[in-house]
Amino acid sequence: MNKIPECPIHPVSIKLIRSGHPWITADSFSNRFPRQSSFIVAADERRRPLALLLHDPFHKNVKARVWSTRAPFEREAQHFTASVQARLDLAFEKRDKQKEISERENYYLTFGEADQLPGLFILRLKDRVLIQFYTAFWNRYKSIIQTTIQEIYPEILDENIWFQLRGETKELQKLPKNESDPNRRDEFHLQEFGLQYLIRLGSSYDIGLYTDMSSIRHTLQDLIAQDSKVLNLYSYTGAFSLWAMKLGASEVVSVDLSPKYIEWLQQNIGLNPELKSEQHEAMTMSADEALGSLKGQNRKFDLIICDPPSSSSDGEKRTSAIKSYKELLKKMDAVLSSEGKMVIFLNTHQVNAQKFERTIQDYLKELNLKYKLGLKLSLSQDCPTLKGFPEGNYLKGIVLEKL
Ligand SMILES: C[S@@+](CC[C@H](N)C(=O)[O-])C[C@H]1O[C@@H](n2cnc3c(N)ncnc32)[C@H](O)[C@@H]1O
Repeated sequence: MNKIPECPIHPVSIKLIRSGHPWITADSFSNRFPRQSSFIVAADERRRPLALLLHDPFHKNVKARVWSTRAPFEREAQHFTASVQARLDLAFEKRDKQKEISERENYYLTFGEADQLPGLFILRLKDRVLIQFYTAFWNRYKSIIQTTIQEIYPEILDENIWFQLRGETKELQKLPKNESDPNRRDEFHLQEFGLQYLIRLGSSYDIGLYTDMSSIRHTLQDLIAQDSKVLNLYSYTGAFSLWAMKLGASEVVSVDLSPKYIEWLQQNIGLNPELKSEQHEAMTMSADEALGSLKGQNRKFDLIICDPPSSSSDGEKRTSAIKSYKELLKKMDAVLSSEGKMVIFLNTHQVNAQKFERTIQDYLKELNLKYKLGLKLSLSQDCPTLKGFPEGNYLKGIVLEKL
């Protein structure tokens, strides 16, 4: 192996690495890392080796990710393959021990940085595995990753392993594919908490079910009482709607702007004959429009679930979810029964849980709405988070109880 270049990094990056943050973002230092080198040794202010980095010169924003802060780094790099295998084994073992995830066929086998595998997310989807690279660094380790998975899970066949490049840059926004087998089945069903869902690996960037929300879905069962009326805003393919129906809700209304996702949701209901489809109503329109229409009909719900995209556009201007919550709270309140509850989510690392909570409290005050802040929701179980790394802790939810 060639000698790994030692490069100075930005003073802020030095501080961040010391506090456990695993990213080096684009700046005048990282933009000068030698492009051909896949590993870089970051040097501190006194030019002492600080960390071994995985380099990704093509990434728009995250130029390198910390692999190790334990010197000697030349040796760490020489043993890289063995370390990848060991970290994968450890992550898989952790999931095998988690009883909570045994009720679902979808869970994360690795969750990137929080499993010490920066930018490497592996999803188990029934008898398949979807390997997501958030950095192109991992491209050259495809076969090591695949072999390690199949050593531990020999039931996973070659044709059921999918690779997907994801990330901020357009080049990384690719569909999962495996060139070797054009006839592979990309559509299948999997089970979560006794419900079947249609998964599509090959047709869209989104596969039809958010696994990072699974543990939260499970938690929400305590809020869905028999015969409750549930409104699911920004429903996507309906995971919360099906779950509410399964738990005995007497009426479930799902709202999504996308006809494609509403159709997918209907297909998901069809996959579960025990669900009473006549108790479900789909509204293919904006949440705003649906809330207006439901208010006009004088409808009331016991539980409203609201999970908007982090920002959305009406064709003219972009609005962030956090900003749109003021208007949303007012409109949701108008269709929430007395003593009803709302579960509101925010899906961005740019606003932390405390800021989200404070902003919501301020809005409630301004709107003169009386609510108690209840349970806080966040990533958990198979989706761990890392202290000092807010980017990995993007999902937050609050239960609001009407007083
Ligand atoms: C983050 S996903 C919701 C995921 C879903 N709650 C789940 O758990 O599976 C956001 C969804 O909002 C929909 N959407 C975006 N803008 C919307 C709007 N203004 N009104 C209603 N739905 C919208 C998108 O089509 C997408 O399905």
